[in-house]
Amino acid sequence: MKPKQLSDEDIHWVSSQLSQSEFTYWTKLPLADKSHSFQVAKQTQSLIGDREKVFIAAALLHDIGKLESGFGTFGRVFATISCSIFSSTKIEKWKLKEKGLRRRLADYSNHPAIGADLLKGLDSEEQTITWVLEHHSEKEKWTTPKIIGEALSSADND
Ligand SMILES: [Fe+2]
Ligand SMILES: [Fe+2]
Repeated sequence: MKPKQLSDEDIHWVSSQLSQSEFTYWTKLPLADKSHSFQVAKQTQSLIGDREKVFIAAALLHDIGKLESGFGTFGRVFATISCSIFSSTKIEKWKLKEKGLRRRLADYSNHPAIGADLLKGLDSEEQTITWVLEHHSEKEKWTTPKIIGEALSSADND
């Protein structure tokens, strides 16, 4: 889906769903990620309603770990393709590298764990952090309630 410029009203809505420190991190995302996370959150809200704010926060923050890799839009396309070409064992080894492109690719592929760690250092709720960590895992391994996880993941995939 092509990135859409967010209105002041949209940004205000995002800030109302997050803590101050979460929102500060969210604003650091590139436009494409902001727009993607906003759409995922709105879609999730339409599926599960307003009661579960921790999961709306999870939708907004699910890809926050991608910040660490420092890739821009084109770098991300490249990173996504690279991650599908190289085996996960190979990418796993790149995590040991101090820096460089391969380390950045490893960080990108590892964005759920990196994002969860980042949120642990903030004031995020446990259920928010859990979904960020689990959002690319198989359904069988989720500890997030299935019905919520299904809403979040279907919102992320279209
Ligand atoms: Fe992701
Ligand atoms: Fe996503």
